[in-house]
This record gives sequence, structure tokens and C-alpha cells, in this order.
Amino acid sequence: ETVEWDPKDTGKGEYEHYMLKEISEQPTALGRSVSGRTDSARGEVTLDGFPPGAFDGIERVHLVAMGTSYHAAMYTESLLARRGVPARAYMSSEYAGSPPPEEDGTLVIAISQSGETADTIAAVRAARAERTMVATNVVGSSLTRECDDTLLVRAGPEIGVAATKSFSSQVATLSLLSERIRRDVIGEPSPDAEEFLSALTDLPDHVRQVVESDAAERVADAFADSESYFFIGRGPGHAVALEGALKFKEITYEHAEGFTAAELKHGPLALVTEETPVFAVFNGGADDTETLGNATEIRARGGPVVAVASGETPDLEETADRVLSVPSTHPELVGVLANVQLQLVAYHAAKRRGRSIDKPRNLAKSVTV
Ligand code: G6P
Repeated sequence: ETVEWDPKDTGKGEYEHYMLKEISEQPTALGRSVSGRTDSARGEVTLDGFPPGAFDGIERVHLVAMGTSYHAAMYTESLLARRGVPARAYMSSEYAGSPPPEEDGTLVIAISQSGETADTIAAVRAARAERTMVATNVVGSSLTRECDDTLLVRAGPEIGVAATKSFSSQVATLSLLSERIRRDVIGEPSPDAEEFLSALTDLPDHVRQVVESDAAERVADAFADSESYFFIGRGPGHAVALEGALKFKEITYEHAEGFTAAELKHGPLALVTEETPVFAVFNGGADDTETLGNATEIRARGGPVVAVASGETPDLEETADRVLSVPSTHPELVGVLANVQLQLVAYHAAKRRGRSIDKPRNLAKSVTV
């Protein structure tokens, strides 16, 4: 498979920063990641190089990645688990340091925007697996040579050090792969495969609606002087909470941390004050009730709550100080939309503080050592 880039895509164009340009490009990037890869009427996924039966014999999936790609790995872990495929996300460095024992049927999937991250290359080399594959944005990158198979995420060139569109495209591409793996491992599509694939097809439009709203900028302004910024969620929303916090700390240089919503009362709640806004990510499914409970606990301690949620989540008016709303969609995809809101919050918060948004201090786009 080849991917055509237009050289003009790598300029900043009308945008003040690459990051904002790349956030705004997500509808196009997602369209490319998904296009030609689904037959939503039949609930089937077609991925070049992975015909039916390609994952026969696979019993478990290990996902290895760093940084933002690790959060895409966590997101994918939830998608696979929900499809009945045992999966676990690891930080590449930890996996390389102590790779799990050899077992038949292990598929290792490396996730890397650049395909050059040294820790992730080390994880693949250390893996005691039947098969390895990489989901990457870069054709011909080192990981494509290290791994048995390659799946391209097709986000297009990403220049900003803070990864944005690559995350959305990774999740979209890996959600297709998850469904494809499930088909071979379980023998039939997910019960809601048609709805899921049709929601995936609508995702570019939904992301466009988020990008066009100014709600995130208003939230960034409202909490410009806070002491710390916390992010909570469960399942895919946990991955998004960690990614929201990572984006925030990378480009604003403010203290930001992500937690599972349930973890809060086991320690982090001690940090919550009026000076620590908590962004609560809701998936728009059955687990929202518990997250609403966690949000209530935060508010009872005086912590401002910003809910990031679709219209499916009830009772937000009573529970949240502010709502960053996203279009209603399949609960497995609300997280992608919530993440775009959090990218925009981080962007506007960093811009307000006059930070070097595209090249944050001390960070590199690709860590090859
Ligand atoms: C660096 C970058 C991050 C990125 C991580 C993994 O830390 O600053 O933005 O998420 O590497 O990069 P990869 O290319 O493997 O996705």
C-alpha cells in the first residue's frame, strides 16, 4: 500500500500553528483512515493485507507503544476486550524490560506514529510472540521493517510535536482492526458491528462539529489561573483522560494528571480543591452512572467539574459546572470526540500562556534514543 502526500499539506497555511491545523485536519484524516475499509451494511471490515482468516489461531493481543500512541493502545485494549479478544496495552519500555512468557497465539501490535520510537522497536525485538505487526503513519519506517505486518493509519504528515490527528486515526484504524481480529477469533462480527461501522463512517462529520465549536476555548479561559488540571474517565474514557492530561502538560507546562474515575477516592481526591478543575470524560453508555457519582464526589470537595460528554449522558446540569458537548454516537467512539475537545482546551490554554505550541520545551517529535 502507498499513501500519496501533497507537499502543500506540510505548510501551516492559514493556521497560526501546526497543532491547530492538524486538529482541524482530523475529519479528512479520519475519512482517509476509514475509507474503503468498511462495508457497514454487512458489518464487515476489509483491510488490505489481512484477508478473512488472517488472524486464525490468535488467542491474545499485546499492544506496545509510548506517549500518545500508548493511549491509543489503551483505547484499543478496551475495544478488543469488549469484542471478546483478550488484550493488554503495555508501555514499550516495560515490555522490552520484561517481556511476557512465550505462549502460542500471541500477536504483538506496535503502535507508533513515526515508526521510529526506540523503546517500541526494543519491545518488538524482545517480544516472544507468534507474530508482530505495526500500526504506523509512516510508510517504510523502521518498525515496518522490524514487524511481520504493517497497517497504515493514513493520518497524513504530522509536524506538531504534540500528537493530535495521529491519535484519532490510530483509534479509528485500530477499531477496524479490532473488529477484523474479532471476526477471525470469535467467528462472527460483533453483535453491533453494523452500528459501529456506520458510526465510524459518520465520525469525520462529528469531529468537524467539535472543531467548529468555540466551547473549548471558553473553558480554557475560564480556568486559566487554576493550580492543577485533572482528567478522569473509565474504559476508553480512561485512555482519553490520560491523553487529555498529556496534551495539557506537554504544551501548557502546567501540572496535569489523568486517572481512572474510580481511582480518585483511593488517593488523588486529596488533591482536589477549588483550584483544580477536573475534566470528566463520559462514554455515553452504561458506565456513565458511575462516572457521574465520581463527579459528584469531586464537587462535594469544591472541585469544579467540566464534563466532556454527548447528549446520551443524563443529569449533567446537576453534576457539572460546565459541559463540553460532543455529538451523540456509538459509545466506543464518543472518546475520540471527547479527545478532540481536550486537544482544543490544551491548545487554547497554551496559546493564552504564550507557549511554544508546535515545539514544546524539552520534547521531540520522535524519540529515537
Ligand atoms: C514522543 C512524542 C510523542 C509521541 C511519542 C511516541 O514522546 O513527543 O508525541 O506520542 O514519542 O511516538 P510514536 O512516533 O512512536 O507514536
